[in-house]
Amino acid sequence: MGECRHLAIIMDGNGRWAKAQGKPRTMGHLAGADNVRNIAIAANEAGVKYLTLYAFSTENWKRSEEEVGYLMKLPAYLFQKYMKEFMERGFRIRTIGELSRLPAATAKVLTDAAEESKNNTGLNLIIAINYGSRREILLAAKHYAQDVLAGRPEDLDEEGFSRYLMTEDIPDVDFLVRTSGEQRISNYLLWQIAYAELMFVPESWPEFTPEVLNRCLQAFGKRDRRYGGVHESAES
Ligand code: FPP
Repeated sequence: MGECRHLAIIMDGNGRWAKAQGKPRTMGHLAGADNVRNIAIAANEAGVKYLTLYAFSTENWKRSEEEVGYLMKLPAYLFQKYMKEFMERGFRIRTIGELSRLPAATAKVLTDAAEESKNNTGLNLIIAINYGSRREILLAAKHYAQDVLAGRPEDLDEEGFSRYLMTEDIPDVDFLVRTSGEQRISNYLLWQIAYAELMFVPESWPEFTPEVLNRCLQAFGKRDRRYGGVHESAES
């Protein structure tokens, strides 16, 4: 059975979930933040080593000031409530995205969590925040160009280029799941999902329980990943 080392999730549908219950959208995001804890624990128990969660995209700034402000407070909520538990379980907190453009307090909470957990060797819990993949690739290209101008030309290959991305030393995504029925990638990890298996589930993010996760991982395990080659059993 195929191993899912790196699971990436697009946590969609918080707003619709809240609305269906007659609650404000922000209540959906709050339930979504609590679910980050539940799914991180379940993914770790299922043997996932890297879990990358799309918390805020470079396009999400278009939302109302109130909603953006609320989302920016969620990292503090998450880590105040659950950091102790994450540390006990050996989680290493990391981020991808441009933290410099976040409110200073939000960036600090994230860098503090990363610093506190940097020597942990368990699940890498990676929060994608103010993240957009095209921007990531653009910044990588600029950075490489600067290195070349500084006299460090190297024969750039795929492996070398991926080290310029925000995911640097993080392996490619094995499995990408998007919740809440939408079937698109939305500028998420475009380079890193080159050979990922994709799954779109109807449950919204607050409804995405550990049971649903385990069902997804089981289905992933049955997929025949060929990376453009031919599967052994089909060769003769
Ligand atoms: C998409 O649902 C969700 C987001 C844009 C925010 C995701 C954030 C969380 C799950 C909270 C956890 C975050 C951190 C930093 C710990 P939507 O609002 O687009 O839902 P809709 O499509 O139903 O409107």
